[in-house]
Order: sequence, then C-alpha cells, then structure tokens
Amino acid sequence: MPEALVKALDELTVAWQDAMADEAFVSEFERVLRDYAGTPSRLYHAERLSRQVGARVLLKREDLNHTGAHKIRNVMGQALLTKRMGKTRVIAETGAGQHGVASATAAAWFDLDCTVYMGAVDTRRQALNVARMQLLGAKVVPVESGSATLKDAINEALRDWVASVDHTAYLFGTAAGPHPFPSMVRDFCRGIGDEAREQCLEQYGVLPDAVAACVGGGSNAIGLFTAFLEDEGVEIHGFEPGGDGVETGRHAATIHAGEAGVLHGARTYVLQDEDGQTVESHSISAGLDYPGVGPQHSWLAAMGRATYTPVTDRQAMDAMALLSRTEGIIPAIESAHAVAGALDVARRLGEEKGPDATVIINLSGRGDKDMGTAIEWFGLGDAEGEAEPVVATAPGEEA
Ligand SMILES: Cc1ncc(COP(=O)(O)O)c(C=O)c1O
Repeated sequence: MPEALVKALDELTVAWQDAMADEAFVSEFERVLRDYAGTPSRLYHAERLSRQVGARVLLKREDLNHTGAHKIRNVMGQALLTKRMGKTRVIAETGAGQHGVASATAAAWFDLDCTVYMGAVDTRRQALNVARMQLLGAKVVPVESGSATLKDAINEALRDWVASVDHTAYLFGTAAGPHPFPSMVRDFCRGIGDEAREQCLEQYGVLPDAVAACVGGGSNAIGLFTAFLEDEGVEIHGFEPGGDGVETGRHAATIHAGEAGVLHGARTYVLQDEDGQTVESHSISAGLDYPGVGPQHSWLAAMGRATYTPVTDRQAMDAMALLSRTEGIIPAIESAHAVAGALDVARRLGEEKGPDATVIINLSGRGDKDMGTAIEWFGLGDAEGEAEPVVATAPGEEA
C-alpha cells in the first residue's frame, strides 16, 4: 500500500471497530437495510429445478434487493460509516457496475459526492449500469490501462484516494484489498448467511447440506459462508470463473490456478506468471473478472473448509438459460456460475441422501444488466423469428 494510505486504513479500522461496537450504529444499519434495501431477502424453494436434480434447491434471493444485488448491503454499511467519519465524498471501483450503482445510490441517499472508476472494457459491456450511475448523480471515469477491467479500476481508485483521503472514503466493493476491507465487507454482508440459516431452520427444520456462491473478490460468498463455518455437516462451495476453461489460460479461477502473492494490499492467491507478475484474467462476467480473491477464501481453501471449483463461461450461460426457463428468474451471469456448479452438487447430494437433501444457492444479483451479453451469446432479440431458440440444459446434460 502507498505510505499515504496506511494512516487512512488505520483510521478506518478504528472507526469501523468503534461503529460495530456501537448499538446505535448497528441498529441504524439494520434499519437502513430493512426499510431501504428490502432485506431480509427471501429464501425461495425452486421446485422445478429441485425436481430436475432430485434434491431441494433453495435460492437466497439477493437479486430482489434494491439495486438488484447483494452489493447494497456492503455499500449502505460503508456509506453510513463515511457519514460517521464526517467525510463528504466517496469513490468506488466497479466491474459489473452493480457496486458502482449501489455506491451511486448510497451517495444520493446520504448526500455524498461520488466518483466511480470502471475499466473501459466494462463500461462497454455494462453500458446500462454506466447510465444508471450517471442518472443517480455519480461521475463515471473509464480506465484504459492494463486489461481495462476491475483490477485496473481498483488501481485508479487507489490513486485518487491517495490524493483525496482527507475528505474522501473509498467504498471498496468486495471482500478483498487491504485490511480492514475484507473483514469489514464480510461484516456488512454477513446478513446473507445469518438470514439464510435462520430461514432454512424456520421453513424446513434443518440446516442445509450445502451452501454455494460465486466468487469474484468474494463478498457475496463470504457473506453467505460465515454463518455456516462452524456447522461441520454443511458443505461450503465457491464457484470461480473458469472462462474459456482453465486449461486455456483465459480464465479468472484464482484459487484453482493461482499462487500465494500480494495484490492490492492483501496476501492471497493471485493469478501470476513465473516472475510473480499478476496476469490478466478473463471471464464473460465483469463482476468475476479479477486475478485476485479475498484472503478469507484463500484461507478457507487452504484449510479445506470450503471447496472452490471453476465454472466455464459456457456452463454459466447454460445455467442462466436453465434458471430463466424453469423458474422464470433471469440471474446475473455472476450468480449463474453458482447455479451451474451448485446443481451438480445438488444432484450428487440427492443421489446420496434422497430428495430432502438441501442446497442453498446465493442468487447474488439479477440479470437485467447482462442482457447485452445474453443477446450476443444466445442470438436473441430478432423479432422476425430468425434467432435460434435458446436450449436450456440441466447440469450434466449436453446442449
Ligand atoms: C451480481 C453480482 N454477483 C457477484 C459479484 C461478484 O462479487 P463478489 O465476489 O464480491 O460477491 C458481482 C460483482 O460485481 C455482482 O455484481
């Protein structure tokens, strides 16, 4: 970390710890999430999918939150902290644009100035979210350096922060980066798992056999996993972006294919070359396209408590079509990675334990923002009827 930020990070650590120990702050955070963001999100029994795989599939509907993803939880927490610290401006980085939209939303609501850094490639594949941020009053700065994706946007946001730290808070979008961000983001997102655990017990009288989430930097995944870490009987599965396939080198499966290194102030698994240089990542999903991962996930993988498996672009897009066709829910492509991987887990558990085997999949966000990619991938939008119909395949089946 640049010297100038060490003091800011220390100051943030103290402010966050004080705030979390202050009942008034915690209850205000809970009130904001409930009244404004719409939590608790529902735990929904996907009956048609369940029948297909022979196990009970439950979807944690974070896609129903205000602004369409789990990201709003983290951002409302960090923005509330910004107010408490007396700062007047926020900056953020964004990949898929969901964190940028959430940040612009929080900035509007808390009356803060807002600048969002976004890789130029992502501004093109997520143009709808760029427009949303602008309408909400944020300035969106396209970043052309490197692969012009999330990693480069973080570099640029850190540069801004060095020069503006007196009056600016950096709303970090995921459970990665320097301390205290991984722990702070986990705390603000842990409602996902706390709610899901309570809802599952209340609705079905049992804990799930497995929980599953996609892993970019890792905020939605750690938000879900934290509540289940002590439940030894609950399998924990993270699904990483396998891109074109890990064997092709065009992927972002950091835990599967990375090595220990340092990226953006965290020691974690990083995709790197023989000289230890960070390499460019690839994923069809902008929100997962990051060559690092939150350090807590590296730790959970290293100690064997959670399993991380790559899911290719194609498998994710098949799952996007499958969930759309069977449940009438269009997921974000990020979340579709979790669906693709988790349905294989559900099928195995169904065979081992029968149809009451229960799997919770975190549906981290909705797919509206990804319609441009879906239109291209599936050849949609041709009202003359020339486009081929999308074939929805169940896990393990060929299209
Ligand atoms: C809907 C959605 N899910 C998941 C992610 C991945 O982020 P994380 O791994 O921090 O949950 C993103 C990131 O933009 C997202 O928009």
